[in-house]
Amino acid sequence: METIRDFNFGGFPCRAALYSPQELYPAETSLFVGDRNTATLVSRPSGSAEVILEPGEKAKQWPAVDTILKKAMDLGMARDSLICGAGGGVVTDMTAFAGSLYMRGCRVVLIPTSLLAMVDAALGGKTGIDAGVYKNMIGSFYPAEEVRICPELLQDLPEKEYWNGMGEVFKTAMIGDQELMEILVRDRNRVKAREPELLGEIIRRCILVKGSLVEEDLREKGRRAFLNLGHTFGHALEAASGLDWSHGAAVIWGTAKALDAAVAMGLADAAWAESLKKLFLDYGYELKATVAPEAMLEAMKMDKKKKGGRLRYIIPAGPQDIRIEYLEPEFVLEILKA
Ligand SMILES: NC(=O)c1ccc[n+]([C@@H]2O[C@H](COP(=O)([O-])OP(=O)(O)OC[C@H]3O[C@@H](n4cnc5c(N)ncnc54)[C@H](O)[C@@H]3O)[C@@H](O)[C@H]2O)c1
Repeated sequence: METIRDFNFGGFPCRAALYSPQELYPAETSLFVGDRNTATLVSRPSGSAEVILEPGEKAKQWPAVDTILKKAMDLGMARDSLICGAGGGVVTDMTAFAGSLYMRGCRVVLIPTSLLAMVDAALGGKTGIDAGVYKNMIGSFYPAEEVRICPELLQDLPEKEYWNGMGEVFKTAMIGDQELMEILVRDRNRVKAREPELLGEIIRRCILVKGSLVEEDLREKGRRAFLNLGHTFGHALEAASGLDWSHGAAVIWGTAKALDAAVAMGLADAAWAESLKKLFLDYGYELKATVAPEAMLEAMKMDKKKKGGRLRYIIPAGPQDIRIEYLEPEFVLEILKA
């Protein structure tokens, strides 16, 4: 085990650490939660109590949490008992949510198994479920006491999921780690080859950026919102395209639109913005969307990251220079049409 950092998220201590596959499972676990794809990735003693969920976003609803809570009750778990959730962001969000509810909060350790969950979802205390079609409508802030990361688990992650997570890596590099951006520019072939050592370094850097923003602002009153870079545009594309776009690809497309907005507002240097868009294209991301701009604007109006009725955008003004701006719908439509 190698500690990445010990964080304090609003009074909740949280350790992020790198583990080998053999030492990944916490010995004190009372209840293990995984999905059908991820449960097999973590070896654990035979006969361990477990809840194995259906994989994917569709399962991220109340019945899954109910199943976890009932199992915890059947086992007679106490408040100091430990639930361990191993999976992508769906499993880590739901396990931590169930943990926040059980006896008003029991111990939770998360083992993220997708790249997205390692660099983003498992760290930072946002937990929750979807309510019907409404994403992450019900939830809590409840950081896990430990996030155990094993980059070797990424070797069998489906290609689409890998590039999904890499979208959040680009976002994190733009927000807070110029050296990570340089790694992404320089080591493209190693990134594509999923070299475990390089992935360990990339994940470690993402954890440090996200963790320090969350330490400063657990409840997203200020700078934590930087982590939504590319998300207001990206969510609108996801919603208006009927979820044809994967989340990570939509975040990259949305980041490119945020760069266009920054240049149009006179905040960002056009050559810098173009160099980033070229990098995204070189990595195989799509920067053209065949979705009606008006439909995307409507979807944005539904986005919950509104404040006082105005739409809030995270705008990259330069390397590590991120601004929160409120934009007029007419301007946003022009950017969407470009
Ligand atoms: N809490 C937060 O701060 C936060 C941040 C970002 C995203 N999220 C949430 O994360 C979720 C998305 O997470 P995701 O992209 O990991 O999706 P996911 O959990 O659905 O995982 C994607 C797929 O990959 C499979 N999988 C995971 N790890 C694997 C591995 N190592 N090998 C093979 N298959 C594997 C899963 O079974 C699933 O089928 C969303 O619900 C989103 O709301 C939460």
